[in-house]
Amino acid sequence: MADLRIKIGTLEFRNPVMTASGTFGYGSEFDDFFDVSALGGIIVKGTTLESREGNPYPRMAETPAGMLNSVGLQNKGIDYFEKNIYPRIRQYDTHIIVNVNGNTVEDYTELSRRLNALDAIPAIELNISCPNVKKGGMIFGTNPAAAREVIAAVRQAYSRTLIVKLSPNVTDITEFARISEGEGADSVSLINTLVGMAIDVRAMKPRLAAITGGLSGPAIRPVALRMVWQAAKAVSIPVIGMGGIMNADDALEFIMAGATAVQVGTASFIEPLAALDVVKGIDSSLDSRGFASVSDVTGIINR
Ligand SMILES: Cc1cc2nc3c(=O)[nH]c(=O)nc-3n(C[C@H](O)[C@H](O)[C@H](O)COP(=O)(O)O)c2cc1C
Repeated sequence: MADLRIKIGTLEFRNPVMTASGTFGYGSEFDDFFDVSALGGIIVKGTTLESREGNPYPRMAETPAGMLNSVGLQNKGIDYFEKNIYPRIRQYDTHIIVNVNGNTVEDYTELSRRLNALDAIPAIELNISCPNVKKGGMIFGTNPAAAREVIAAVRQAYSRTLIVKLSPNVTDITEFARISEGEGADSVSLINTLVGMAIDVRAMKPRLAAITGGLSGPAIRPVALRMVWQAAKAVSIPVIGMGGIMNADDALEFIMAGATAVQVGTASFIEPLAALDVVKGIDSSLDSRGFASVSDVTGIINR
């Protein structure tokens, strides 16, 4: 068995494979399929201070090699999470990481402060890249001054491991990776979805009620890989790569480009065991090629 352990900040993960926010619920939805503690980590659904209904239906559409979604951060808010979900998921023997969202800097800091008090949540992923909300979200992740302000404020409010999730809907991803590092983030994760749209030509209507949505799945992988490669060269904090990872070889592409860890998203909708298969596949791929640890191939194309 290859040594798959990795570190993000001071936090050690048993392997580099996590599940992407919004694609794996709170983890417990997958209990019937496999022991989710076999994963490196679980990034739970996007969470906000107050409960949110999300956007009107339809809010999913299939596209060539991908899907569009405009879910819009539907969740029951932090009070509900603390009372009803946290007690259920805190016993998992893997890192449960909460994806943090807000409309304002104050929303983000207040939510981060609340999460700082939860012992079994060792890290947060600050989502400044959601394309499906009118306020907040991607606005923070596409404006350098706004990104700087929200990351700095959350860093003050949150003392554990801070991951900043970046938007691909920018011209220069390295600028946002550097801002995150400069403001004290322990890691950056990327990419969130690319803004897209689709039209039903017979009905002559957009396929999503919100008209635009976030594109995910294999269609975005080459773009995601390019951005992860650029970000990994620009900063010295660990980069978590995602975007269209369907199997272990896809994950190894990101790792070879410089990602310390990866997240599996849309693939879990097609195959609930996808993330577990990625863990096993990375292990056997490294073994069969004689690599003792995953770090032996991290960023290998840049050496
Ligand atoms: C249905 C759906 C819901 C999502 N919800 C969130 C979310 O709440 N927060 C977030 O940061 N990203 C969210 N994402 C983005 C994913 O976490 C991931 O960044 C993106 O889908 C790219 O990875 P993939 O191609 O492997 O799915 C969502 C994606 C999908 C498909």
